[in-house]
Amino acid sequence: MNKITAAITAVGAYVPDYVLTNQILETMVDTNDEWITTRTGIKERRILKGEGKGSSFLAIEASKNLISKTGLDPKTIDLVIVATATPDMKAASTAAYTATQIGATNAFSFDLEAACSSFLYGMSVASSYIESGRYKRVLLVGADKNSSMINYEDRATCIIFGDGGGAVLFEPNEDNLGLKDEYLRSDGSGREFLQAKYGGSSYPITKEALESGEHYVFQDGRNVFKNAVSNMAEVVIRIMERNELTKEDINFLVAHQANKRIIDATADRIELDQNKVMMNIHKYGNTTSATLPLLLSDYESELKKGDNLIFAAFGGGFTWGAIYLKWAYNS
Ligand code: UT7
Repeated sequence: MNKITAAITAVGAYVPDYVLTNQILETMVDTNDEWITTRTGIKERRILKGEGKGSSFLAIEASKNLISKTGLDPKTIDLVIVATATPDMKAASTAAYTATQIGATNAFSFDLEAACSSFLYGMSVASSYIESGRYKRVLLVGADKNSSMINYEDRATCIIFGDGGGAVLFEPNEDNLGLKDEYLRSDGSGREFLQAKYGGSSYPITKEALESGEHYVFQDGRNVFKNAVSNMAEVVIRIMERNELTKEDINFLVAHQANKRIIDATADRIELDQNKVMMNIHKYGNTTSATLPLLLSDYESELKKGDNLIFAAFGGGFTWGAIYLKWAYNS
């Protein structure tokens, strides 16, 4: 019998209706479309509006999209993982609420938090459960309502982030398709360069904290940029080398959408053609845990069974890594 591998067998996505364009941002902070476009590649991003709507709203809508596209019976899902850096609430699992709302009543569920690498790490966790034979259907959702932790008076961060959700289903495969290899890394010495200081257990919210604005995301962009460029390229090269993949073997680079220049630099290091680089940062900005599944959703119709995909991400913590996956279906 062939070894059981973990394949992605379905994709779903959701972005909110409200479009925050560079032109609107020009009226909010001292910035301009030309700077944002040339420095980041972003033209617009989506923002979730509505009282009480958190990341679970995005996760639920993305999961429902997957379910309606495939006809999947949610009662057959064994596990729901919600990868997110912006859970709905403290102390209450976002994944548990998501699972119940989509009708996955036989599943257990948990949140997974690794900043912008949450979904990438989630792919590793979901695949491990499938490969072990313990579960047959794992729904991995990436959802972030980044607008909930952004200061819309800070031009260094408000131009970058957007809200969105994406979902994939992992199932067993006996044809050697699915996740082939992973190389995941982290380095806690990077946490000072990208963080929201107040609101966690180290520094709970106080009146003074709210006044200081340090409950919002802070980023030392230049430092994170430098680390992202070198580390993403390093893990991509390593995973290619140890799987004996040349640039010709790769069908698509599926890289976290934080900055077009970071993605271009990674592709340049392996001399990959631009048409093999998935890109949608211009439409959504950085949606943290949702960037990878949103790319899969946008490019799903171009993907063929057996295609070699290299996933890569870099984010707060620092956390980063690369995954080599063989696509399992034609749509
Ligand atoms: O997903 C998690 C991981 N995150 C990332 O990978 C993000 C990594 N970092 C970046 O993408 C980039 O560093 C940014 C897009 C955040 C910033 O781009 P940059 O080219 O590194 O700009 P910078 O921070 O070095 O700033 C250059 C100049 C500064 O002015 P001076 O000091 O040269 O006069 C900034 O004050 O641009 C100025 N600036 C802006 N100007 C217009 C900073 N933000 C803006 C803005 N509009 N929004």
